[in-house]
Amino acid sequence: MSLRLPIQAGSLLRMRAAFPASRSIQQWAPLRTQSLSAVLSYSASRNLTSRANARRSLQAPIASPIWPQPVVRMPMPKPVAVAPSAAFSSGPAAEEVAHTSKAIVGWWYLYCAALVFAIVAVGGVTRLTESGLSITEWNLIKGMKPPTTEEEWMVEFDKYKKFPEYTLLNHNITLSEFKFIFYMEWGHRMLGRFIGLSFILPGLYFAARGYMTPAIAKRSFVVACLIGCQGVLGWYMVKSGLREELFESKQFHGVSQYWLAAHLGSAFIIYSTMLLTGLEILRTSSKGARLLSEQVVAAFRQPGFRVFAMSTHNIAALVLLTAFSGAFVAGLDAGLIYNEFPYMGDGLVPSDMWALSDPSKAEKPIPWWRNLLENHAAVQFNHRVLAMTTATAVTALWVVSRKFTLPRSSRMAMNALLGVTALQVSLGISTLLYLVPVPLAAAHQSGSLLLLSTSLWLLHTLRVLPK
Ligand code: HEM
Repeated sequence: MSLRLPIQAGSLLRMRAAFPASRSIQQWAPLRTQSLSAVLSYSASRNLTSRANARRSLQAPIASPIWPQPVVRMPMPKPVAVAPSAAFSSGPAAEEVAHTSKAIVGWWYLYCAALVFAIVAVGGVTRLTESGLSITEWNLIKGMKPPTTEEEWMVEFDKYKKFPEYTLLNHNITLSEFKFIFYMEWGHRMLGRFIGLSFILPGLYFAARGYMTPAIAKRSFVVACLIGCQGVLGWYMVKSGLREELFESKQFHGVSQYWLAAHLGSAFIIYSTMLLTGLEILRTSSKGARLLSEQVVAAFRQPGFRVFAMSTHNIAALVLLTAFSGAFVAGLDAGLIYNEFPYMGDGLVPSDMWALSDPSKAEKPIPWWRNLLENHAAVQFNHRVLAMTTATAVTALWVVSRKFTLPRSSRMAMNALLGVTALQVSLGISTLLYLVPVPLAAAHQSGSLLLLSTSLWLLHTLRVLPK
């Protein structure tokens, strides 16, 4: 059914609003070739009163049953140019982020992401200096005050002495050494509290002032809950290293690798959400956003580009998985065996790869999947394989990227990703060869977050966000 309307002055005005001169020629080319009345009737039929409506309408033909097919003879602006937005605006509801969330909300998200980066780095050093079990209680408010008098310090030290770490590992520790490990853990916890407040208080203010869209407000609520859960996970992790049963073990390995991996993995998820949300809000609220989006839309016209852009999601997932497997290496201190590369003993696969589930090698064999998560050799092997797979995938992506014309920021992100991957692999190998010295291991841990950031940055630059 045709929805043609007579041309009126109002229609002309609406048309000016709907098709501003600043639009790229490419994007509007198909419309330029249509008859004026067809364009007008399209504009009128969709009640175009704003640029936002115009854009929505241009995306509508695929879904809208009232699209005036008989009137508009030319095809609509190629849906190819728009389709990726659906695919690559996955995750956060990008449509609602646009236009309404203020830039300050984006900066606030990035600031909080930077704080999470900092706490991961501090947490890594806390673990590497074996400070994590020095505070044996968890109290959100009271725990903020460290001991001040000598008496208070002695009370705290005595509490520490009751637990397996002191008995099995640290029985020679002096009070001043204890003070150092106490302050490390206390600093980590205080930073956690600070992040909670830095997220919640401004978040409430921004939501109350209407600086955020409902979608971003909801997402912020989820992130706030995740931060709370992160604190609880952290405490369960610490508790796993304070268990009395550990007195019976001959070797003390600290906290459970499962809790450590959960705590680290959750931090990485919070960080990724904050970083992507911040970048997304800033891009949709910036003046350059439209230009970048048009570049991305143009890039998607190249054959095979869609698969390339999709692959950046897989790379980010692979980096996350590799980092997760690294947490198992760290949790089991599995970096203290097979300090060589690429071999592990006589071959690339260690001879004791299946030791824990092998009936001929273990007294009480355990299932194969537990072997993969609890056997030191297997855990290190997994991490090596995943790390090398990530490095190969990134290199392959970089090679493939050469054949495409990328937006400038995507090219920069792609090159940076290759560089950071090389750095991270070098740090990992050095950490292993030098038997996990604190500075190298800490740099390797921060490197993993830098690598994740770079892969998310690349992914972000290839998303088509609403303008
Ligand atoms: C894509 C590359 C890599 C990523 C993303 C990555 C990530 C990680 C992460 C997140 C940790 C846990 C750190 C912690 O919680 O303190 C870790 C630990 C470790 N990684 Fe990697 N890693 C990579 C490559 C490698 C390579 C190639 C090696 C050596 C073959 C390696 C050896 C180690 C070792 C030995 C540890 C344990 C360090 C410790 O005890 O603190 N990593 N890795």
